[in-house]
Amino acid sequence: MARVGIVTGGTRGIGEAISLALKEAGVTVAATYAGNDARAREFTERTGIAAYKWDVADHAACLAGCAKVVEELGPVDILVNNAGITRDGTILKMTYEMWKEVMDTNLGGCFNMAKAVFPGMRERKWGRIVNIGSINGQAGQYGQVNYAAAKSGIHGFTKALAQEGARAGVTVNAIAPGYIDTDMVAAVPADVLEKIVAKIPVGRLGQAHEIARGVAFLCSEDGGFVTGSTLSINGGQHMY
Ligand code: CAA
Repeated sequence: MARVGIVTGGTRGIGEAISLALKEAGVTVAATYAGNDARAREFTERTGIAAYKWDVADHAACLAGCAKVVEELGPVDILVNNAGITRDGTILKMTYEMWKEVMDTNLGGCFNMAKAVFPGMRERKWGRIVNIGSINGQAGQYGQVNYAAAKSGIHGFTKALAQEGARAGVTVNAIAPGYIDTDMVAAVPADVLEKIVAKIPVGRLGQAHEIARGVAFLCSEDGGFVTGSTLSINGGQHMY
């Protein structure tokens, strides 16, 4: 039986590359998305991967959505918490809503999704959870107190849940991407982005598939002894 995996934010950007890499590894993938129906339809037509719509910041929606995936595809063996948003601005300009949206989606989403699938993984004695953190959660970033705090929280969440899953065959790891060539990074003002890229030792942005390969390894049978770790994939921008 093929493993079943959920990739949140799995129809675009890094998430799309992860969905494709897991499919290539033989996983039956459910890709979630929050809003862009047209893109999700196009994604499913092109890849054959099922897309499910719910907001990872909504606890009840995550429980209901995961139950639907189980009903339609089978018990969930793999969870990739990839869904994330930015609401950048210095703290002088950041509103409480900008703070809360990012915390609820990027960090709250990890809790909501893990809460839905972890018990089943534990019962079946096999599971893989990969949380997408960020270089900016490790190093901080001017204009991102919300995002850096949420991503940093993901790294703590990963290490705590890894301890709870270890004896039950459930590994929990994080990947900390650097600046990857996606819509999210394209939204950074060009002059600011130019200065950031100038500080990346390999001299370029990363590609989404370079993150996806790491996720596929952590989700594989061979990844069974890797847990509680953070894999930094950032072109040498932050050596941590
Ligand atoms: N260090 C020190 N000072 C800085 C600075 C930095 N890195 N960046 C800007 N400043 C200064 C500015 O020069 C300006 O100074 P003056 O007032 O003296 O001119 C001051 O800070 C305030 O600047 P702004 O008024 O422009 O600040 P703002 O509140 O409008 O915010 C910003 C601007 C949103 C932070 C913008 O600079 C920006 O988008 N920066 C990039 C943020 C970023 O890297 N986001 C990553 C998105 S991708 C992602 O998150 C994925 C991932 O995981 C890597």
